[in-house]
Amino acid sequence: MKIGLASDHAGYALKEHLRQWLDAKNIPYIDYGTGSPESVNYAVYGHRLAAAVESGEADKGIAICGTGNGIGMTLNKHRDIRAAVCWNEETARLARAHNDANILALPGRLITAEDAERMVETFLRTAFEGGRHEERIRTIPIPTSN
Ligand code: RB5
Repeated sequence: MKIGLASDHAGYALKEHLRQWLDAKNIPYIDYGTGSPESVNYAVYGHRLAAAVESGEADKGIAICGTGNGIGMTLNKHRDIRAAVCWNEETARLARAHNDANILALPGRLITAEDAERMVETFLRTAFEGGRHEERIRTIPIPTSN
């Protein structure tokens, strides 16, 4: 399983922390930026990560901005992306179990590094429950006319 990482400046410090955490656990990742704490537009990095997950270059993603909202909104413009803004372990667990989320969007300015580690761990180990949730997630994308 290869993880894609992306953040803006507000999520940069937490992304760097999670890189070290993933290294320590021998979990492979690709970092799609940003590469410094300089102010940037979260949409640029959100689109890069979404494209990587949609193409299969990354299996799942972790996206971080100040609140999780801007980058989450960007990610969810992509048809095959289900990005979930989560703020504790239970929202991260349900995002996988019920929504089959493929990207965890985190509010870098509102959570601790330890909170983030617990959420990522839960997100990565929780399987989609399927069943009644299959039809729900299948009908999230806006239907195409043809
Ligand atoms: C950056 O200041 C901040 O607006 C951004 O990281 C994010 O929280 C937007 O949704």
